[in-house]
This record gives sequence, structure tokens and C-alpha cells, in this order.
Amino acid sequence: MNPLNHVAIIMDGNGRWGLENKSSRNAGHKAGLKAVEKIIKASIKQKIKHLTLYAFSTENWKRPKSEIKYLFNLLENFLLNKIDDLHKQNIKLKIIGLKNFSPKLNKLLRQSEHKTKKNTKLQINLALNYGSKFELINAFKKLKKSKKIINEKNLINFLQTKDIPDPELLIRTGNTKRLSNFLLWQVAYSEIFFEKKLWPDFTGKDYNKIIKTFKNIKRNYGNI
Ligand code: IPE
Ligand code: IPE
Ligand code: MG
Repeated sequence: MNPLNHVAIIMDGNGRWGLENKSSRNAGHKAGLKAVEKIIKASIKQKIKHLTLYAFSTENWKRPKSEIKYLFNLLENFLLNKIDDLHKQNIKLKIIGLKNFSPKLNKLLRQSEHKTKKNTKLQINLALNYGSKFELINAFKKLKKSKKIINEKNLINFLQTKDIPDPELLIRTGNTKRLSNFLLWQVAYSEIFFEKKLWPDFTGKDYNKIIKTFKNIKRNYGNI
């Protein structure tokens, strides 16, 4: 049985779900948040230590302003309403990505991280304004400045995921087989599952099924 400490998820398909079910992409984002809560619960049951959720990419700024605004409002309300609850459940929140949102949201994100920083049950790494290429270029710049030799260990120290183990498992919902600039370095040896269901339809049961399959995969790391 493979150990599983870290699951990373590309939560794709909200917009399509919203259009299909409620004639609005934004309704899909709202429904997507419900799926997030379900998967947090299921992760705790599975004794997973790290759950990394791709919520907004550096490329998502290309979307219409109204959709971006809706997404960040949703996040703001979620944090305002749920951070105490997450804290009580001993969940730690960490943001990966560049926090350059409105001063109000930046502050709320920092406060949420600060409040939960000592929690130990589950760490949620929320990838927000995150792009793997940006992360890598920044890391190389810092490594160069530090004058340390270029090797894996030194590079990893400058990644935003520096204290986070690599995900053993990556799941992408939404019936699309691509990585969309997510954790390109960190998923070098992850097992990748592409799920047909759109994110709001993804359930704890679907999640547990993938985990069960994952646990029985023979992982070689180049060996035989
Ligand atoms: C993923 O769902 C969530 C975000 C990028 C915020 P999408 O909004 O990309 O949904 P589709 O892929 O258009 O259906
Ligand atoms: C990936 O989904 C980003 C998130 C889930 C946050 P996208 O919907 O943005 O990916 P592409 O553009 O279809 O590759
Ligand atoms: Mg999409």
C-alpha cells in the first residue's frame, strides 16, 4: 500500500457545470465551493496531511472582470464565515502564489494564515494567483542571488512549497488532460488521475475511489 500524505487537485469544470445547471458560470463557482468542503472532510477521514487546491492561476486573470470579482468575493466570504470553523478542526491554511489582491483580501489571507499556523491535523495549501513557471523563475533568481550552488535541494528551498512534501497524487476534474501551469516541478513523480466529472459533481466517494486505486499502484521511481 502506498503511503499518502499529500493530494493536489486541479478543481476544473465549475464554469461548465454552472452553465449546464444554472445558466451561469458563477453559479458553478458557488457549487464548487460545496465540493471543496466535502473533499476537506474526506481528506481528514483519509488522514491526509496536505491538500493543495488550485483555485486561481496566474493565467486566470484573462477572464472577464465580473467572473474574477465573483470568485474573490466568494473566497472572501468563505474565509470570513469559515476560518474559525477550520481553526477549530485544527486545519492550517497556507496560501501559495502571489498575494497581490485588494488590501482587504490580502489582509484577510494573512490573518487566516496567521490564525491557523500552528494547526496540525490537515494543511490546506490554497494555490491563488499561482503559476508554476513564475514560481520556478523566482526560485532560480533567488538561488542565483544567494550564490549557492545549483542543485535540487537548494532550488527547492526557494519554491513556495518549500516546507511541503511533493504530492504523491494529483487529481484533475473536468475531463481535460493538462496541467495548466500547476506544480510542474513538484509533480515530477506524482500519480496523475484525470476525472471526467466536473468539479461541483465530484464527491467524497469519487475521491475515496481514486485514493484506493492510487494505494495499489506500483511506484517505480525509475527502478524496476
Ligand atoms: C475551475 O473551473 C475554477 C477556476 C479556474 C477558478 P473553470 O472556471 O475553469 O470551469 P470550466 O473549465 O470553464 O468549466
Ligand atoms: C486550471 O483551470 C486552473 C484552476 C483550476 C484554478 P483552467 O480552467 O484555468 O485551465 P485551462 O485554461 O483550461 O487550461
Ligand atoms: Mg477550466
